[in-house]
Amino acid sequence: MAVCSAPGKIILFGEHAVVFGKPALALAIDLRVRASVSVSDQFAVNGHPMRPKHHSYISAALDEAWNGPPVRISTKSSIPSGSGLGSSAAVTVSSVGAMLAEKGTFDLATLAKKSFEVEFKVQKGASPTDTSTSVHGHGVLVSPEQGDGFLWRISKGERVWNMHHCEIPDMTFVVGYTGVRAATGPLVDGVRILLDTNKDRRRDVDRIGDIVLEGVDAVRRADKPTLGRLMLENHGLLNDLGVGHPALDKLVDACEESAYGAKLTGAGGGGSMIALTDHPEKTSGAISRAGGEPIVVSVGCAGVRVES
Ligand code: MEV
Repeated sequence: MAVCSAPGKIILFGEHAVVFGKPALALAIDLRVRASVSVSDQFAVNGHPMRPKHHSYISAALDEAWNGPPVRISTKSSIPSGSGLGSSAAVTVSSVGAMLAEKGTFDLATLAKKSFEVEFKVQKGASPTDTSTSVHGHGVLVSPEQGDGFLWRISKGERVWNMHHCEIPDMTFVVGYTGVRAATGPLVDGVRILLDTNKDRRRDVDRIGDIVLEGVDAVRRADKPTLGRLMLENHGLLNDLGVGHPALDKLVDACEESAYGAKLTGAGGGGSMIALTDHPEKTSGAISRAGGEPIVVSVGCAGVRVES
């Protein structure tokens, strides 16, 4: 039997724009998924016979990374699913990781590539941001060009994403989960359709790309006021791209007094927002009063681990 664990993530800057070739900065968080894989007499997931439609990520992971006898796969997650915190990426990375470990072929770049293929297949059009951040941990700068701290490159069609290590200073974020579940695929499709028809929205995506680069500089200086300002600007641009939600705006507004800034994180359409704060209790209280579920998270955490 092999056991692997992998973290969820928050996207600090650049979600959606990264699907269309712009950079993004994602941070691993201290919420994890643990997956075990052991050879069995039938394919089963969490004690039930595997049904590819119901267990879409695990079934795609088996197609991508397992070429062997039936296995029993169990997953245990501390990441709310559909919350925008990378739960499907962490399920994918921990499951594929456990399969590779069970076969004796575990290595990080292969795991990152196979996990991306799984997410791409299920979500029909993902970027490798979530899966590579779950593999590497810490902070990951995704960029069309290769630069300092290069980890690995992933490509699909004409798109190329270079992954880079990014050192993350001590920062506290409070996640505000709206409780509104939203699937990533349709939200990404909606942005694609908008960009095909609207020039102004293409300019929004360009500006998000610049925000990411300014944000990386601010992270390196641990300049929280600048990060907060950029987060608010990025949130407004994501609303313009049609992936906002009134519940997200309510939570972002509620953090105005106690946080440097706030924005939606991940695919949007519900899911979660994040606030950068030195006062996590105050910010958590504000999020609760505005109807969200606050989760204080540490960032820059370890990536995938083979546990046994
Ligand atoms: C989802 O966490 C982030 C998106 O940019 C989609 C992706 O990059 O695959 C919305």
